[in-house]
Amino acid sequence: MFTRSSTKRQAKGAEAAPRDPDEGHRGPRHVAVIMDGNGRWAQARGRPRLFGHHAGAKRVREIVNACPDLGVEYLTVFAFSTENWKRTQAEVSGLMSLFRRYISKEARALRDEGVRVRFIGDRVRLDAKLIALMDELESLTEHNERINLTIALNYGSRDEVSRAIKDLAGDVAKGTLSPADVDEETLTKYLDTRVLPDPDLVIRTSGEARISNFLLWQSAYAEYEFVDTLWPDFTKDIFAGIVGAYGVRDRRFGGTST
Ligand code: IPE
Ligand code: IPE
Ligand code: MG
Repeated sequence: MFTRSSTKRQAKGAEAAPRDPDEGHRGPRHVAVIMDGNGRWAQARGRPRLFGHHAGAKRVREIVNACPDLGVEYLTVFAFSTENWKRTQAEVSGLMSLFRRYISKEARALRDEGVRVRFIGDRVRLDAKLIALMDELESLTEHNERINLTIALNYGSRDEVSRAIKDLAGDVAKGTLSPADVDEETLTKYLDTRVLPDPDLVIRTSGEARISNFLLWQSAYAEYEFVDTLWPDFTKDIFAGIVGAYGVRDRRFGGTST
């Protein structure tokens, strides 16, 4: 596992006096995951990329179900980006059909396991059948409280912020919002993530150390963890290890430790 300067971080965390008795042990409330590496995982086995996407989809529930015991209340996973339409038509349509099948197949288990599912991203480009399944799954699980799973599907941060500003500008034009009242909190209310807390920890698998247009606004002060493991190999034990290591980090939010 590639953990950027984790040794240094742990040493520093061990020395630092916690701000309150719980501080040193507090885990992340919201973890966001860029599930990357499905294609390479399949290619390494001489199989088509979609084989990797299927293996990757199977991992999601394992990670979701690991959350409550780790104190993680919100898990957000990046399933398809606004830039992923650039892939071959075969891969894109294979992914769309995988999303439809995944939702139909997993809906009942997610409901029974107390998972509240939400989707973020622009639905405009998605097909009607998929949108209907997404709506259904959101309503089916809306009273669940054990864990909040948010699936980012046709999601891109710049797209989300542009749509938010378009809506906000619409309200200004209607006269229901004054430009003088626009601040960070106002903009946040127009984002797809309006009901979610900001991510505390963002994990990306597959060794790539980039954000690829994921939760840019929301992750301004998140901790980042880049691991070499390809998403289909990402187990709940690896997840637990990363979440556990988060507790020793010293998040200062621009201030100081003491
Ligand atoms: C992530 O795996 C899943 C999606 C982006 C849909 P990739 O498909 O990006 O896998 P790699 O990065 O090519 O290995
Ligand atoms: C980011 O992975 C999107 C998802 C995991 C859904 P990509 O594989 O699309 O990102 P890049 O192209 O490597 O930046
Ligand atoms: Mg990738």
